[in-house]
Amino acid sequence: MRLLATAGVVWVALTLSVPAQKAEPSLATSREGEKGVVVCVSPIAAEVGAAILRRGGNAVDAAVAVAFALAVSWPEAGNIGGGGFMMIASPRHAVTCVEFRETSPRAAPENLFADGKVSAWEAKAAGVPGTVRGLALAHQRFGQLPWEELVAPAIELAEKGITVNAALARSLQRVWGDPKTTHAEFRRLFSPPDGRRWQAGDRLIQKDLGRTLRLIAQQGPEAFYTGPIAEMIVREMQASGGLITAEDLKAYRAQERTPIHIQFRGYDIYAPPPPSSGGITLALMLHMLEGMDLKSHGRWSVDTYHTLIEVMRRAYADRARYLGDPDFTPIPAHLTSREYARRLAATIRPDKATPSAEVAPDLPVLPEGESTTHFSIIDRHGMAVSTTYTLENSYGCRVAVRGAGFLLNNEMTDFNPRPGVTTADGRIGTPPNCIAPGKRMLSSMTPTVVCHKGRVVLVTGSPGGRTIINTVLCVLLNRLEFGMPPEQCVSAPRLHHQWFPDVARLEVTPNQKELVATLQRRGHRLMSGGRQGDAHSIFVDQATGRRTAVADRRIDGAIAAE
Ligand code: DON
Repeated sequence: MRLLATAGVVWVALTLSVPAQKAEPSLATSREGEKGVVVCVSPIAAEVGAAILRRGGNAVDAAVAVAFALAVSWPEAGNIGGGGFMMIASPRHAVTCVEFRETSPRAAPENLFADGKVSAWEAKAAGVPGTVRGLALAHQRFGQLPWEELVAPAIELAEKGITVNAALARSLQRVWGDPKTTHAEFRRLFSPPDGRRWQAGDRLIQKDLGRTLRLIAQQGPEAFYTGPIAEMIVREMQASGGLITAEDLKAYRAQERTPIHIQFRGYDIYAPPPPSSGGITLALMLHMLEGMDLKSHGRWSVDTYHTLIEVMRRAYADRARYLGDPDFTPIPAHLTSREYARRLAATIRPDKATPSAEVAPDLPVLPEGESTTHFSIIDRHGMAVSTTYTLENSYGCRVAVRGAGFLLNNEMTDFNPRPGVTTADGRIGTPPNCIAPGKRMLSSMTPTVVCHKGRVVLVTGSPGGRTIINTVLCVLLNRLEFGMPPEQCVSAPRLHHQWFPDVARLEVTPNQKELVATLQRRGHRLMSGGRQGDAHSIFVDQATGRRTAVADRRIDGAIAAE
């Protein structure tokens, strides 16, 4: 079964026939040290980042190199054809967010997906990619090593090929064997060497992608947005019926935005602002929790679970009601006010679930896609980067740009599908996140940095669609509220409630039988059967300054040190 708590998972109704208690294997691995460290889904990309740190690059240099390397070594989510958010913290400047979310092509009608004729698996679902401009902006503002040096490792990986590990083999085989994978160029690029199945130990060579990366190394982002790669994208759009034009590409800009800053238990938490919903939704939840003493109840107590579910359902209702691209829709200031969160928290009943229909009966929501990737980096000087970027679903819309060797996202599906139409099966049609020319679709990506007295103490984030924000919440609470050791903060079971569907998804362990039964008695509907997120994180000990990198193993993870 897929290891993520997202749309593709078949959730199994939770029963009480949980096996007897036994020791739980850790879902994370950790490594301690004093120097720079990179943690991400791919061992190859982690090593690329560590090599950049060894050469004297800073955390942003390493992040740029890792992002390009992931586009080669983790093609289901690593990308140059998608978008994301990069949080940058350094002792020398205020924490900032480089935002490179995709935009809607100008030709996309507001009702693109309304009649069900356009699917997520075609070129029309692609937004204008942001990654290359985003990485270039981060590099221009904060990088130290030359741009070409940061793209070079990815070129080599693409041209010489990489050895496929078990996680990559599973990923490639899943997409290869899926009947929805029909685009001829995509199939040509990712056909298994023996023509049958991908296996660990196979080689993946991507010559076209190597050539594209070479152009980006030599000519910078203009190669992608106005140069030869732009021409190839436009040709692919014409051949595949996509909507992105040369003007859309030329007009695309990445932006530096002020992060959402949340103060919680003496810590300063920074997360992305809209068009990510992550920062504001986290602020709502943490502000609601601030007045409660979860610690005295204990991390695994029924009261803590009950409270978290209730807090999540309320915050996600507001997420759906209010959030969208801030350049198109006003974001109400009360969402980050403590006073508002306190009033919301006061509606929580201590021993009874509130049906989501009571929280905001008019606004059900749709599930999201399957793959994204997050990486965390800290350099020896304490500069930290937290990046989450994505193609939306695994391998995006599964359209490869002919001759260019890279994949296009299907991020347009993150917009509300039917303007004005909200239905009981979980669609939402409110205006803040409806398609408009040049608009950014709402995201849940939440790369997060936590500081204490101006020093970075935690870097985290995750894939997982709408579950991302709650995965980050769990990691934050495990550390900041409950003081758990780093590896446990990442490994510990997570939970998710997104208001609608009105079901809490739990990563349960066998010894949580009683917890499950009591939550059900309080009126919570519970589901389980999958794993939530892949939160590659770095923890810094405030007393000693030692760093503990933790690789989440729910999908795959690797740590590489300077
Ligand atoms: O931006 C977003 O929130 C989604 N496109 C992310 C999709 C995702 O995380 C799928 N994950 N595993």
